[in-house]
Amino acid sequence: MSNSERFDLVVHGGHAVTPAGTDELDVGIRDGRVVALGALSQADATARIDAKGLHVLPGVIDTQVHFREPGLEHKEDLGTGTASAALGGVTAIFEMPNTKPSTLSPADLADKVRRGREKAWVDFAFFAGAAAENLDALPEMERQEGCSGIKIFMGSSTGSLLVDDPEVLAEVLRRANRRIAVHCEDEARLRERKAIVEKEGASVDLHPVWRDDQTAYLATEQLLNTARATGKRVHVLHVTTEEEMDLLAKNRDIATVEVTPQHLTLAAPECYEAIGSYAQMNPPIREARHREGLWRALQNGVVDVIGSDHAPHTKDEKARPYPNSPAGMPGVQTLLPLMLDHVNQGRLSLTRLVDLVCHGPARIYGIANKGRLTLGADADLSLVDMKAKRTITHEQMASRCGWTPFDGREVQGWPMATIVRGHIVMRDDELQKDPLGEPVRFVETLATN
Ligand code: DOR
Repeated sequence: MSNSERFDLVVHGGHAVTPAGTDELDVGIRDGRVVALGALSQADATARIDAKGLHVLPGVIDTQVHFREPGLEHKEDLGTGTASAALGGVTAIFEMPNTKPSTLSPADLADKVRRGREKAWVDFAFFAGAAAENLDALPEMERQEGCSGIKIFMGSSTGSLLVDDPEVLAEVLRRANRRIAVHCEDEARLRERKAIVEKEGASVDLHPVWRDDQTAYLATEQLLNTARATGKRVHVLHVTTEEEMDLLAKNRDIATVEVTPQHLTLAAPECYEAIGSYAQMNPPIREARHREGLWRALQNGVVDVIGSDHAPHTKDEKARPYPNSPAGMPGVQTLLPLMLDHVNQGRLSLTRLVDLVCHGPARIYGIANKGRLTLGADADLSLVDMKAKRTITHEQMASRCGWTPFDGREVQGWPMATIVRGHIVMRDDELQKDPLGEPVRFVETLATN
């Protein structure tokens, strides 16, 4: 690529993190694509962005968010959720099907894509929810524009989606052609143990006692057995226990693994003492032993992806007495700052982080043209300052819920600009221009085995 060619945008002076390593490389962008990587100081460009002192990462893809639209817009919508993503340095999101209605039909999914086109700040895709009653609709949904894959809830959480019948679980796996992402908690054990939290005066620190490590392990084990029997691969969401990680390490051929920043950062009982039901999520934050187990798995290569499980609920809803307080916490805006801070603390390298939030999502879901900073890729970039020290606050959050479990936490490492297909959508903590999100595209040849 010669310097005399004109670019729409040049990101210059930054350290670009490419599959070949981290180098001082300018990024030349035209028509939404990366068309040059190299020294472009003399190049003709319509716009330039000075990235001196910054790292230029491929756009961060958050493959697990709940943006609540349609039906629960008092908590969040696709506008506020994706604004929160852009402010957090996230360039694409995959949204979960436990909205109202649940995303169970081709029409439900098409409706979400239409809404996304109107108001999303970043690129988007939506999961098809799996249930006994929509098995026949799944193949068509999988082929639809903007479908990221299939989501299964093996245990009840927010909303009514549930696959607790082993036969239905096997049937969903048999029929699936795209990635199957699974929330693993054993429904029978959850019901058996509910009495623990239904007694008078139960407090939120019982959340990980009710939804204990066995509850998670049993479901993950059952899922792996079903995957083995049906010859399909599965993606296990928000893994929370050391023992599940040991099991998953032995099943790398059939399962990929997600962890969340909150399970890597918080621990019981301290989090419940500090912020009460704001720390309540499913599966729960557990004691430090498990958190260390998750870090070990991450460092040993067992973890494929970090997703935020952004799950906003209003402060009023969270104030209901436990266990009537809903489970879930927002996280799309804090995913990158928290993880950059972990990089600065020496818990993982920046390269490994890029593997977990860019390459991993692209690999697992078969995303076309995103996840790697290479020539020809979509010009999705997250520009981060590894030296910037900031304090995370409720006030910064663009999520409609208006709070974060990390209020008051000091971090080092901060997103300074978010670029989606060559458009600057966030700079210096301010949204720019208008929402221009589009459906994420997927490679057509993706098979689940
Ligand atoms: O804590 C959670 N909240 N876990 C889930 O699985 C669902 C989520 C939500 O949608 O609120």
